[in-house]
Amino acid sequence: MLIKSVSRTNPLKIIALTACLAMPLLAMPSAGMAAEKPTLYERLGGYDAITAVTHDVAARLMADPKMGRFWAHRGKDGIDREVQLIIDFIANQAGGPRYYTGRDMKLAHVGMRIDGEDWDRLITHLKATLDKFNVPQKERADVLAFFESTRKDIVEVK
Ligand code: HEM
Repeated sequence: MLIKSVSRTNPLKIIALTACLAMPLLAMPSAGMAAEKPTLYERLGGYDAITAVTHDVAARLMADPKMGRFWAHRGKDGIDREVQLIIDFIANQAGGPRYYTGRDMKLAHVGMRIDGEDWDRLITHLKATLDKFNVPQKERADVLAFFESTRKDIVEVK
């Protein structure tokens, strides 16, 4: 008998085998249960896709002559930490399984005197990145709407 021979070799195998057999049943939506709508996090391609997009936008911003001032004379580790926090923030807000440990948008940017032109440049770079990664129209619109929702807390100088 299968179970008997497995139990003689290693009891842990029984647990593993039971879990493997039960898994497809657990994953199956029961009759009448509506399938969950995918989150923006999932529709964007998850953590790796959000990381790639964030790094690409960050590189464009830091190379922009008007925007470079925000990252001038800052250490590499500090910048890496900031980019990681941005990835976590976006992933968290998009419904992904990420815990955001940073500050809220107002507190994180207050005093930088970010103005309307800085914001427009950010959006121009973001659009170029979304084009580069061929992000579909629906997800593109959702990402742009999400960024727009943070504007009021970030732009200080009209
Ligand atoms: C023109 C627009 C923006 C500029 C110039 C800018 C610049 C910066 C800078 C220089 C920092 C580092 C702050 C520090 O080390 O104390 C920072 C932090 C951060 N930014 Fe922005 N940012 C902009 C827009 C955004 C947007 C749209 C988001 C979110 C979608 C965002 C998310 C964050 C996060 C999560 C942090 C880290 C917060 C923390 O350290 O606790 N930023 N930003």
